[in-house]
Amino acid sequence: MTAEPATARGRDLFGLPPPDRFAQAGDPPAQERLADGAMLLRGFAGAEAAQLIRLVAAIAEAAPFRNMVTPGGWRMSVAMTNCGALGWVTDRTGYRYDPADPETGRPWPDMPDRFADLARRAADVAGFAGFAPDSCLVNRYEPGTRLSLHQDRNERDFSQPIVSVSLGLPATFLFGGQKRSDRPRRIRLVSGDVAVWGGPARLAFHGVDTLQDGDDPVAERRRFNLTFRKAC
Ligand code: SIN
Ligand code: FE2
Repeated sequence: MTAEPATARGRDLFGLPPPDRFAQAGDPPAQERLADGAMLLRGFAGAEAAQLIRLVAAIAEAAPFRNMVTPGGWRMSVAMTNCGALGWVTDRTGYRYDPADPETGRPWPDMPDRFADLARRAADVAGFAGFAPDSCLVNRYEPGTRLSLHQDRNERDFSQPIVSVSLGLPATFLFGGQKRSDRPRRIRLVSGDVAVWGGPARLAFHGVDTLQDGDDPVAERRRFNLTFRKAC
């Protein structure tokens, strides 16, 4: 690399501020195709991650994180809450979308405009124009927690994609195929990364490997994930 002349610092010839640095060989591409219909948008929400985490904290004041129980009787290690018209819940009776928080009986907190707007923009870039989510599941991972391989299939219309926003500590995302036995790809996700899957990948098995400890400047020892869906 060559040193910049002092006069060029801060502005280029056209008066524009320079990028932080130029892309280099070996940099991961900003957009990575994971499968037919599935795309990873690296850093898509990076600039707003801190604000998104603050909005998560406000949601959790109205609808606290809780460890839900699966129909099989297992308590999930990942804690969850929701915002939007419908929230995904699980208990001994099964999985469902519920307009009310079963813990409080109250409607879920409204989905912040910033959330809906981010989800729509990410879906658009990934080729799913016009995405209008009515549900946002908020997951909270602490070191040692994980989410085993599953399909998202409680939604009514599988033509609508899933938009998944990573915040806080890095994680290893597992992205498999249509069958549970298909060996999943392992993808490192960092704060601000957004994954979108739909079309032929809509029912892909996916999960999150055991979270490693770390210290995120905003989320500290936690990872949050926003999963946007059109449930109804
Ligand atoms: C999910 O499948 O609901 C969440 C995935 C993630 O946390 O990245
Ligand atoms: Fe999922």
